Amino acid sequence: MRTIAVVNQKGGCGKTTISINLSAALAAKGNRTLLIDMDSQGHCAVGLAVPEEQVEQSVYDVLIGIGRGEPMRLKEVLWQISDGFELAPSNIDLAAFEQQMTGVTDRENCLKKVLDEIQDDYDYVVIDCPPSVGLLTFNALRAATDVIVPVEMGYFSLHGLSRQLETLIALCDQCEQKINVMVLASMYDIRTKMGREILAELKKHFSEQLFKTVANFNTKLKEAASLGQPISEYAPSSKGHKDFLALADELIGTDTQLHRADLVNSLQARLSTISASAEELLASVPPDVIKPKEQEPVSLDEKLADVYGVRQVDGHVSFAAMYPRAKSVQIAGDFNEWMPEKTHLQRVDEAGKWHLAMPLEKGLYRYRLVVDGQWQQDPYNDWIEMNPYGEFNSVLNVQ
Ligand SMILES: Nc1ncnc2c1ncn2[C@@H]1O[C@H](COP(=O)(O)OP(=O)(O)OP(=O)(O)O)[C@@H](O)[C@H]1O
Ligand SMILES: [Mg+2]
Repeated sequence: MRTIAVVNQKGGCGKTTISINLSAALAAKGNRTLLIDMDSQGHCAVGLAVPEEQVEQSVYDVLIGIGRGEPMRLKEVLWQISDGFELAPSNIDLAAFEQQMTGVTDRENCLKKVLDEIQDDYDYVVIDCPPSVGLLTFNALRAATDVIVPVEMGYFSLHGLSRQLETLIALCDQCEQKINVMVLASMYDIRTKMGREILAELKKHFSEQLFKTVANFNTKLKEAASLGQPISEYAPSSKGHKDFLALADELIGTDTQLHRADLVNSLQARLSTISASAEELLASVPPDVIKPKEQEPVSLDEKLADVYGVRQVDGHVSFAAMYPRAKSVQIAGDFNEWMPEKTHLQRVDEAGKWHLAMPLEKGLYRYRLVVDGQWQQDPYNDWIEMNPYGEFNSVLNVQ
């Protein structure tokens, strides 16, 4: 059995779309396939027309059962989607898992224990991860033989990628099993110059660790999801469907025996060159995408901070982040007794930018963002520190 975790802490880069349609393609090729939703947003169920109100028991119940030493059978929560394709759905309950498991030994191995029991029942397990690196993602990595990192082909993708991969490598290093880490270009639009340039950079840096298959931008994929169907059912002759059949073929053909350490090390060696390329590409971004301050020369970091991130402005600390689909973004840290309900970011535009200006005394602070109830590190702040629970806190020094 191969277990493929689809991981990227960046929201909206195509994880769920890839998880659903890759699972459907693997099943269509005759493989017994199980899709596990590890995201409390429950998007796999939505994308496969499983009615949310009918999901009485979910991945949460199975995981928490293991954690509490009262295991229940995974079979009890499964929904059949098509021949050879089953879904273990999730729902909002899963958002509480991380906190409820605090202090429980072996809490990062709950999913692995569940999957060890069903080794002979499936050929492929695909795990859709949440857009954060917390206990749920760590559970997925502990259970995984393969990791797919979707990279959306947008302006900031390369810059963010280096940081994402560093975090991922730190987590993979803590896993005992071999993990085959592969990057997948997602939402690629061949018509844009930037898209073509970014893909060329990815090919240059990752070569054998980049899937040859590209997940092209295809509106049929969006339509399929809104109707609760995999693309194989909604539009079998579409480009979107062909991409996922090709991805399944490529994945099936990938050598799983490559040594994890070799893969992870060679990935590590490439991170600095990716950042350098990102800097070049960002320098060529059209002025309406990034507006530098008038007359002043600005560094790349300042440019990005203008868009998202954390910085000091006139005695305040400004937090800005992009969460297009979030309903609430809160912050918890040393400055508010780690109580997110005390401090909310405000949505400032249609695109999904969230902002907060907070007066803070001089000092070193640790914090995390809470997006629709999910705790996560600030994806736009490079300074992170692992906390005692194996998650990452963001760090801020107010001067
Ligand atoms: N290849 C594609 N072509 C067109 N639209 C796409 C493609 N991939 C994803 N989308 C659309 O982009 C949006 C975000 O995709 P998706 O939900 O798969 O991302 P995600 O990484 O799972 O997000 P989250 O981090 O919130 O879980 C959805 O509306 C989806 O339909
Ligand atoms: Mg998702």
